[in-house]
Amino acid sequence: MAPLDMKPNELEPYWLPFTPNRSFKKRPRLFSGAKGMHYVTPDGRKVIDGTSGLFCVNAGHAREPIVKAIQQAAAQLDFSPPFQYAHPGVFELSSRLTLLAPGDLDYCLFANSGSEAVDTALKVALAYHRNRGEGGRTRFIGRERGYHGVGFGGISVGGMVANRKMFGNMLTGIDHLPSTYNRSKQAFSKQEPDWGAETADELTRLIGLHDASTIAAVIVEPVAGSTGCLPPPKGYLEKLRQITEQHGILLIFDEVITGFGRLGSCFAAERYNIVPDMITFAKGVTNASVPMSGVIVRKGIYEAHMNGPEHMVELFHGYTYSGHPLAVAAGLATLDVYRDEGLFERSKALEAKFADAMMSLRSKPHVVDIRPIGLICGIDLEPIAGKPGVRGYDALERMYHEYDLYVRVTADTLVVAPPLIATESDIADITERMAKVIDAVA
Ligand SMILES: Cc1ncc(COP(=O)(O)O)c(C=O)c1O
Repeated sequence: MAPLDMKPNELEPYWLPFTPNRSFKKRPRLFSGAKGMHYVTPDGRKVIDGTSGLFCVNAGHAREPIVKAIQQAAAQLDFSPPFQYAHPGVFELSSRLTLLAPGDLDYCLFANSGSEAVDTALKVALAYHRNRGEGGRTRFIGRERGYHGVGFGGISVGGMVANRKMFGNMLTGIDHLPSTYNRSKQAFSKQEPDWGAETADELTRLIGLHDASTIAAVIVEPVAGSTGCLPPPKGYLEKLRQITEQHGILLIFDEVITGFGRLGSCFAAERYNIVPDMITFAKGVTNASVPMSGVIVRKGIYEAHMNGPEHMVELFHGYTYSGHPLAVAAGLATLDVYRDEGLFERSKALEAKFADAMMSLRSKPHVVDIRPIGLICGIDLEPIAGKPGVRGYDALERMYHEYDLYVRVTADTLVVAPPLIATESDIADITERMAKVIDAVA
């Protein structure tokens, strides 16, 4: 074993996630500090954060009340066993989160990442049906271009090809709705596009194919985020709710990105006036300061589990770090910041101006679609012929090295999602820098 004080071999041993390692290590992009709207690089440059970290730092970086709450929690209760014991904060956070969720979404389970939240929701769906004597409902329906994290559950219901193709058969019994996106019918729509609600009718076809009695749940992101921001067509989510309800199928909204104000309300469910059966959340719940995720479930789902002898565990599921005291403290402090600064309302108030700013990039070279909704927007650049992803990677490098801008890039799509504390001038600043980057990669 190497001594702990051995000089590290700098960049090589770290295998970066979702990153082209060889290119990265030739020309690394590092952040060593962050405050408010900005990252700071090791050489002291301030880089404006156009994507809230990874759609998660909704209240801006290193917010003092959150930092203090974490520090205090670490000193007071570093860890509390989550099985058979609890600590006061998890009850408070569950109460506050369920109050923020619509309808009878009254119970909360905790995990640590979006991927775990998705696995949890899928397992709860299976257990719920089984508890009600409908154990034949084992199928899940996801959606093409959906992203639900990287666990086997998430990649099975997810629909991003690169995340799936290397990993075998995954869960069995999965089917997928078509993507709601059709550029020829929707390009440059602001907010929910007019075309596409009819793609929800595919659910009726899949129910006809498999029979409702075999289907446990449908899982979708209200706005498909990681694939490049695809807002739902007008009436689409409402249709999914109506069809699932009619057939006793649970509807799971994966709100890992859309939760905590991204769409102008705490959850997207509220924007669409829909009560799904479960909401998965992560990211913004702690402003990303400590990993935390969870699932909010409707009362009937919790109650269906409350049977059998009272000394027996009702759901054989949980994580060592479910409801970790540091994450809980961060979550409570984050909710205070959202409330005290009216950040969900602020996000709503900025939506139209943000959309206008993003749309101003329409005349830039190779921009083939722009899709703003809430405070998130996908911008598709035309791929260089025969070289998909090259233009996007060029943009990524230039943003960091030349324009002091951070915006998430997936292949040739740029996804902007500023912290909800962004001012109009921050949005103008991000837009101006993006315009320069897009010109530079023309
Ligand atoms: C909708 C959705 N679900 C799940 C996840 C996975 O979250 P994590 O990376 O924390 O596992 C993400 C991550 O971006 C997401 O956007």
